[in-house]
Amino acid sequence: MKDVLDTSSAPGLSRREFCQFLAQSAVLSLAAPSFFSSCAHRVFGSSLPLQTLDPRLGDGLRLAPGFSAREFIRWGAPLGHPGESFGYNNDFIAFQPIGESEAWMWVNHESVHPGFVSGDWQMERKKSHIDIEMKNVGGSLLRVQKKDAQWVLAAGAKTHKRFDAFTKIPFSGGAKIKGASVALGTLANCAGGTTPWGTFLSCEENFEHFYGDRKRGEMKISPGKPDLAWHRYYDAPPEHYGWVVEIMPDTFSAKKLVALGRFSHEAATVVTARDGRPVVYMGDDADNQCLYKFIGTRVGSLDEGTLFAADFKKGEWVPLNRRHPALNGFSDDLEVLTYARQAAHLVGATALDRPEDVEVHPVSGAIFVALTNNKSQGRPYGSILRIDERGGDHLSLHFESRNFVMGGEESGLACPDNLCFDTRGNLWVTNDISGKSIGTREYAAFGNNALFVVPTEGPHAGRALRVAEAPRDAELTGPCFAPDGQSLFVSVQHPGELSMSAQALTSHWPDGAGELPCPAVMEIRIPSFS
Ligand code: FEO
Ligand code: CA
Ligand code: CA
Repeated sequence: MKDVLDTSSAPGLSRREFCQFLAQSAVLSLAAPSFFSSCAHRVFGSSLPLQTLDPRLGDGLRLAPGFSAREFIRWGAPLGHPGESFGYNNDFIAFQPIGESEAWMWVNHESVHPGFVSGDWQMERKKSHIDIEMKNVGGSLLRVQKKDAQWVLAAGAKTHKRFDAFTKIPFSGGAKIKGASVALGTLANCAGGTTPWGTFLSCEENFEHFYGDRKRGEMKISPGKPDLAWHRYYDAPPEHYGWVVEIMPDTFSAKKLVALGRFSHEAATVVTARDGRPVVYMGDDADNQCLYKFIGTRVGSLDEGTLFAADFKKGEWVPLNRRHPALNGFSDDLEVLTYARQAAHLVGATALDRPEDVEVHPVSGAIFVALTNNKSQGRPYGSILRIDERGGDHLSLHFESRNFVMGGEESGLACPDNLCFDTRGNLWVTNDISGKSIGTREYAAFGNNALFVVPTEGPHAGRALRVAEAPRDAELTGPCFAPDGQSLFVSVQHPGELSMSAQALTSHWPDGAGELPCPAVMEIRIPSFS
């Protein structure tokens, strides 16, 4: 592990100061007794540093003082079944607890790097390359246990399951998309969500790289879009991708949730409305795209319901179905859902700056949305938006919104992407400056991508503390607290993605000098959390 971590050069908060900071910003009603038994008696400091790490451009996983990390799993780890292994470019992480010290864990595998994954550095795109790549996207369903104060993979040949680009996955409710009721695989799995009934949601985001895309009514896929060229060997319609996939761990099965619409799904965050029905908030991660909400018809199911898109000028959720006059040119509601992005613009939904992750505050119910950036509009740093539903009611079709954090040099945060709350109400944020932009031009001051903690209440609300920094070219993704709340799991995604060959590597993380870079999931321990 000596090459994986680098805490030696971290200035900023001491363990005690960090403990004070989190306590000062905490939502007291949610605080775990163990946390306040160690922190609450302290006299809070009157001023706090904005950052615990200064931004750097190194090739380690740098951590703030007092933090520690260990590798939980990495690309290629065997998963018990012959030929099944942990996929590439781990992203979203989630848990569904099964009792005190056991859980299902889900990890998305968003994308492939052809050089590292299939050895296709020259982009020859043979079928043999693509077959390997198809086994490395999708997601991993893992059974995990806590043993000796550490989370580990459970043993057993039938304990884990991979869902990849070969897995046959039906559309929910028997829907037929382009004449088929079953899709070939899942891919581009970015962020996601969990449901109160014990399942996982995995979101298909940049699907156009694999089989391309086309607009409603078009016959041909857009030229140049399927840059991975899987369509050369597999005849899969683009409309089979861009959905939210629900994974049922108890049956090792999955389905694509048609009612949640099709676009570049970033995340799907589920809350329970006052009448028990599920409500899902979802971003469409592309420049000038929209924010969506789904209200389920039935408790415990996302198979049926109404999809809405947000109009921020009016503060209204606008339903997407053929009853809206702007949508009566669609042949039926299934076509509206299949081309939901086009439908949202037709009803006047608001174009946003790449809406990525969405999280709901555990106490106030306020909705926080990461808007990553919008270079086409001259906004390179993004922001975090706060939305309050009228009356705090997730079934309301009216809302108010305001900026919570503005990206930029003042906040120290650029391009916010993934979000998660701890049980104390602090917001944990990872950012995504694209690999080629890291350390250049308007991003020169921000260093590598990083993990931040931002209080949402109290005197320090909205201040971003930089507590971990990714290796070169990489992005920290999928932050998620373990079921016991004591450690934070984070994916290290695409280290060394700008490497031009195995002889010209830009990163050697995690194994150090001379070694190939490798995506991995890390378990991070935080001062005062365990
Ligand atoms: Fe896969 Fe929008 O990040
Ligand atoms: Ca993302
Ligand atoms: Ca999240």
